[in-house]
Amino acid sequence: MALPRLLLTLVASIATVRGDFDLSNPSWNTNRDTFTATLSPSDSSSNPYSPDLTSLSFTLSVASKTISRVKITSPTDSRWEIPESIVSAGDPTPSLSIDDASFTFDYTESPFTFTVKDVDGSIVFDSSAALHFGDQYLELSTSLESDNKLFGLGEKSRSTGSVIPKGSTTTMWARDMAAAEFDTNLYASHPFFVSLSSSGKANGAFLRNSNGMDVVYSEAGDALTFKALGGVIDLFTFTGPKPSDVVKQYQSIIGTPTLQPYWALGFHQCRYGYTNLQEAIDVVQGYADAEIPLDIAWLDIDYMNLWLDFTYDEANFPSADVKAFVDQLHANNQKFVPIVDPGILAVDPSWDWAQDYDAYHSGIAMDVFVKDITNEKPFMGQVWPGPVHFPDWFHPNATEFWTAQLKNWHDIAEFDGVWVDMNEVSNFCTGQICENTDPDNCPTHKVDTQTQCCLSCSDVDPDNSLDNPSFLIGNDLGINEDKNPSPIDTKTIPASAKHYGDLNEYDVHNLHGTMEAKVTSDAMHSIRGTRSFVLSRSSFPGHGNHASHWTGDNAATWDDLKMSIVTVNDFALFGISMVGADICGFIGDSNEELCARWIQVGAFHPFSRNHNTFGAAPQEFYRWDSVAESARRALGLRYQILPFMYTLMWKAHVDGDAVSNYLWSVFPEDEATHGVDEQFMLGDSILISPVLQDQARDVDAYFPAGKWYNLFTLESFESAGEVVNLATELEEANAHLRGGKVLPMASTGGLTTVDVQNDDFSLVVALPSESDAEGLSEGELFVDDGESIEVTSFLHMVYSATSTSLTSKAVENSFDASNAVLTVKVLGVTAKVQSATIQVEGGEKRSVDLVQEDEVLTLDLADVGVGVKDEFVLTWM
Ligand SMILES: *[C@@H]1O[C@H](CO)[C@@H](O)[C@H](O)[C@H]1NC(C)=O
Repeated sequence: MALPRLLLTLVASIATVRGDFDLSNPSWNTNRDTFTATLSPSDSSSNPYSPDLTSLSFTLSVASKTISRVKITSPTDSRWEIPESIVSAGDPTPSLSIDDASFTFDYTESPFTFTVKDVDGSIVFDSSAALHFGDQYLELSTSLESDNKLFGLGEKSRSTGSVIPKGSTTTMWARDMAAAEFDTNLYASHPFFVSLSSSGKANGAFLRNSNGMDVVYSEAGDALTFKALGGVIDLFTFTGPKPSDVVKQYQSIIGTPTLQPYWALGFHQCRYGYTNLQEAIDVVQGYADAEIPLDIAWLDIDYMNLWLDFTYDEANFPSADVKAFVDQLHANNQKFVPIVDPGILAVDPSWDWAQDYDAYHSGIAMDVFVKDITNEKPFMGQVWPGPVHFPDWFHPNATEFWTAQLKNWHDIAEFDGVWVDMNEVSNFCTGQICENTDPDNCPTHKVDTQTQCCLSCSDVDPDNSLDNPSFLIGNDLGINEDKNPSPIDTKTIPASAKHYGDLNEYDVHNLHGTMEAKVTSDAMHSIRGTRSFVLSRSSFPGHGNHASHWTGDNAATWDDLKMSIVTVNDFALFGISMVGADICGFIGDSNEELCARWIQVGAFHPFSRNHNTFGAAPQEFYRWDSVAESARRALGLRYQILPFMYTLMWKAHVDGDAVSNYLWSVFPEDEATHGVDEQFMLGDSILISPVLQDQARDVDAYFPAGKWYNLFTLESFESAGEVVNLATELEEANAHLRGGKVLPMASTGGLTTVDVQNDDFSLVVALPSESDAEGLSEGELFVDDGESIEVTSFLHMVYSATSTSLTSKAVENSFDASNAVLTVKVLGVTAKVQSATIQVEGGEKRSVDLVQEDEVLTLDLADVGVGVKDEFVLTWM
């Protein structure tokens, strides 16, 4: 039975006064950029899990015009806080007065609450629903406009799609759980959300806290509550007002994505379950024979000797042959990326076979492993090789240790990037202290038993408060599952384990993946002297600054294909632009129809990799004719638009623009886009509308108002903001260029990114709707060597077109690009064109050959000799 409305209102208003604290000593500093006060528990203090601290300091600072930072912590006790050397907190010195900010700040004294509102008076953050602050339980809540939609908060595969459902809990505790498991906590923690109003106005917030937490979205959609197991409240709010502003403001705090090497935008092929190197060699050949682009060959843990990091199985993957394979890849302009796991085999004195394993011995000598609860011995867990110790990324020797291991291994075969997996950290055992009491039988060295714990584990301090906090976060719970959560120690390093500097795993657990990725990226910089490519499964805010991410172990199902669009776009919100999902699906046998459709999605994700699990049927694209054809077409277009995609990656790096986007990020004012999660945009220019259903040969796709051009056929249509049915044969992808854009493309593309970098250019001008005849079409291009760590010389061109002219201007011209612009295609030209001329800066006006067919005007610049770095004005009439 529904409660009468009056009663509901009453319940809601009672519920809005739940602060545990009273405020005293409020004061603004003279610059009015920082407000401070003291908080003390009120008489009605009611922390349900951990007694409130007796005194807290409250600080609000104006981090920028659009960003407030609220910090609540103990002025006396030292508490865990994320060091800024690990996760940036932006520019630490506020310099702007609250009077000049685009938000206001208000508070009440008893009980203490605070609000941040934007200049229009809309709530950005309103803490009135709850504030608790005990040692092991912090709660902070914000009241929301209940008709707003919330996005973000991960990592999670939400069965309901992109919009965070009301009445759901997002648990943040990094865990080795397949992405194919929907509605439960996965590999990463990202306590950041975007709130979008129906009119398209957005704001958001980030709780900079690495402790385990639940984020609870109320049934009524009127409150979002952070329930954290420790740390401090360090809250950033972002006033937007556009969704892309919120994401940029967030990245101005945590850092923008690192610039990827150009080659990493090529297509990657991987699988788990090769029995020998020849299978990998044959796969590379299979791609070449089928003329499907392939840039990067990968090896999963199959190559290792008994699953030991930094070793090769000399019987099936002889290191000399791997070296020859890698050298051949390089000769073909291709690259090699192998996997590395954090667990280093814990060598038993009785094992003759492992006595010379340097990673273990030097790790012990450098004292670099995470310690157990006693803080005396390295913590022992179990992963693929058997008993292992885990590097402690907080240890001052960690970088030197890891770099030396990678360097020695790189000397064997020169890998180009590194894949760091299992870094949540995954552990096949659970317990405070584990020992290998049966070294003859542990490890078993058998695939079918290696994930069963063979160590003897015990809890020496069963009541330890770190391993048993009174508040149980929803670790391992699904949205609708009515079962008990798993303790936070389950199958990972226990919370009581110790890191260098007296840190507890309890506080730093969620940082492991990002810290490993950073150390690995830094190591690759020093080993290779070039830009790094590091793919990591676990992540945390700021991760994009160092590394990329794939969505983990998905399954070969249509639901997982749909999910890939949501997860990739969520990670774009999290500031990780280089992201993709395993194409054709990792777990289970894929099939022809699914694989043909999956590459039509994955070809347009920033990170594009086919990956498959042990024992599953092969799924390289060339295994089926239709899939090979689908891949040639979709990847063929990808390789042609790589100059555009690489430009997007650069803009993400310098400005925090997203590469893959939800439609609402680009068209927030169009409410019909707010729930769209089966399509996505590349930048703000290309709309991808894939078929996501078995046997379907058409798809209903939403097109925001304006003119759209099919990038395969160049056919166009005008949308009034409507659903359009697109006929789509099995081999056909849908990619539409938005009117009002200029798209720099590779003239022919190629089978590797080196082909593309050497290729000449073609510029595609997509004119806007005729109703917008005065409207300009705009685009830009970034070119550099694709690998320097510091981008000091580069080309940045901007293009601007009217219905009769295209202007090319150089914003920066310090890179010597020798490529030509061979053609300009103008789409949407309705008038008959008689002639065209080009005036290259510093040259004479020349006439240009043209062909006009339907509404496509092709201007042939080959004879004129126009360089991509030339400034010019091209006119047609
Ligand atoms: C770092 O490693 C060296 C051995 O290379 C060792 O002597 C030193 O104690 C280690 N540092 C720390 C802080 O453990």
